Amino acid sequence: MTLHAITRAPSPNLAACELTHLERVAIDASRAAAEHEAYERVLEELGCTLERLPAEPDLPDSVFVEDTAVVLPEVAVITRPGAASRRPETTSIGKVLAGYRPLHAIEAPGTMDGGDVLRVDRDLYAGLTSRTNAGAVDQLRGILESFGYSVVGVDVRGCLHLKSAASWLGGDAVLLNPDWVDEGLFAGLDLIHVHPDEPYAANVLRVGGLILCRADAPGTRERLEQSGFTVRSLDITELAKAEAGLTCSSLIFDA
Ligand code: GLY
Repeated sequence: MTLHAITRAPSPNLAACELTHLERVAIDASRAAAEHEAYERVLEELGCTLERLPAEPDLPDSVFVEDTAVVLPEVAVITRPGAASRRPETTSIGKVLAGYRPLHAIEAPGTMDGGDVLRVDRDLYAGLTSRTNAGAVDQLRGILESFGYSVVGVDVRGCLHLKSAASWLGGDAVLLNPDWVDEGLFAGLDLIHVHPDEPYAANVLRVGGLILCRADAPGTRERLEQSGFTVRSLDITELAKAEAGLTCSSLIFDA
């Protein structure tokens, strides 16, 4: 088994991306591409075999492959993204994932972004957001309960996706921004709060034993390190203008 990472080069039209909670500002496409290449290099350094999909110039958000699928060890669920402009992104991802997992799909009128699905071992928390509706969460539960997963819908406020507000760090540990999601949902788990000056830092990516964290979140990095995690910081300044975090730009799974 090897760790496999699906990525897709950013569209040259990334600046035309969907936005929900950020003001639109200019995005330097070449800087975004450089950040993405650095991200891919780190994934390779951490042992991932990369499957790089070609850019989709007509799909501005298509670099954010996380939103197109929920990949678990037993099965993959192709989502139906909440933003209509993003729905064509799933076609190519479905073709790739069919080589690795049995596929299911969220059907209309359900809508779901993968960024709303937070896995904590066998428990899946699905953010109820502008992108993900309760019908889709019910569909996901129906698909996954036979595999032994629980799926619960949770309210999110102030941010794009549930995984903007919380990330699984492995074991019983969750990093979260308590302003954006009710920490009572995670009772019994070990919770680490982001630094209060770094609301966007709750989205981190665990690869192997390492946590990738935004470079502009030194206070949160320090909190993670004080809790015993090994952390590496990555600059995603340009991608973040498109409402990106660390998890958005890859689908990582054992293959
Ligand atoms: N720009 C990321 C998204 O809104 O889906």
